[in-house]
Amino acid sequence: MNTAQSGILAALPTHARYLSFSLNDPGQAGTCLTALRETIDGENTVIGIGPSLAAALGATIPGLKPCPSTTAPGLSLELPPDALWLWLRGDDRGELLHRARRLVSIAKPAFTLREVVDAFKHREGRDLSGYEDGTENPEGEAADAAALANTGALAGSSFVATQRWQHDFGRFDAMASDAQDNAIGRRQSDNEELDDAPESAHVKRTAQESFAPEAFVLRRSMPWAEGMAGGLMFVAFGRSFDAFEAQLKRMTGGEDGIVDALFGFTRPVSAAYFWCPALRDGRVDLGPLGL
Ligand code: HEM
Repeated sequence: MNTAQSGILAALPTHARYLSFSLNDPGQAGTCLTALRETIDGENTVIGIGPSLAAALGATIPGLKPCPSTTAPGLSLELPPDALWLWLRGDDRGELLHRARRLVSIAKPAFTLREVVDAFKHREGRDLSGYEDGTENPEGEAADAAALANTGALAGSSFVATQRWQHDFGRFDAMASDAQDNAIGRRQSDNEELDDAPESAHVKRTAQESFAPEAFVLRRSMPWAEGMAGGLMFVAFGRSFDAFEAQLKRMTGGEDGIVDALFGFTRPVSAAYFWCPALRDGRVDLGPLGL
């Protein structure tokens, strides 16, 4: 039976590394992926296959597609090379570095490492703005239903949308605490949802039950920092990209012209889409890729 890569459903780790690769030798891709399969357990390391890699292997993964670079007027995103994505989860940065080095060398004949983002858990699971993130995530069977495809050859696999957001801490600090709470739609002090939040509040833009059909995703975002810059590595797993795209459309004003107040202090700088294969008998199932 196919099961999900368990790192997708598990609680967030203390530390993580996101590795993004481009494909430089399509002829070696199959061999490298089967070699990676021997070390990737789906729990400590989650693997995602990008649309360019699936295409290079001559495989069609229904629902996998390139991430759009523009989602709204004035919002244009950098699209880093998106052949292969590895999410390394752990609690020791040294171990994560050495695991990354091993994986990069196994992947090397076919793939070139393009981007490394180091991420971490902040306090009990807060964004760097100080707000708790993940409160309204589905749990248990609802999490499975939101995050995992449940029929056919793709059962147990998941589609992940990633967006690296960079915060402007100066702008955030300059906002009064009421304005900050109104931007999110929850009180930072006790995480209570504000009944009278404006329509631009982030949680009003994204309220999952308010979409038709309902738009549930499983968010596994983590803060990132590099030098004095930082923000949120937004990561949403879905049974397709539909729920994520519906949320993003409303956030960017595509439904009613109202833009999410988050944009007042943060913006996405890069984005990508990947397909995360299921596990079969405990190993990453590369069957849908013809491997
Ligand atoms: C810097 C970027 C972002 C920050 C800081 C952020 C932060 C938050 C916070 C603090 C909450 C409230 C607590 C919770 O339920 O988790 C929340 C909720 C949520 N966010 Fe975000 N978010 C960001 C980007 C996004 C993006 C890009 C999407 C999807 C396109 C999204 C989708 C959601 C959803 C679905 C909820 C739950 C809404 C509900 O059903 O109540 N977020 N976010």
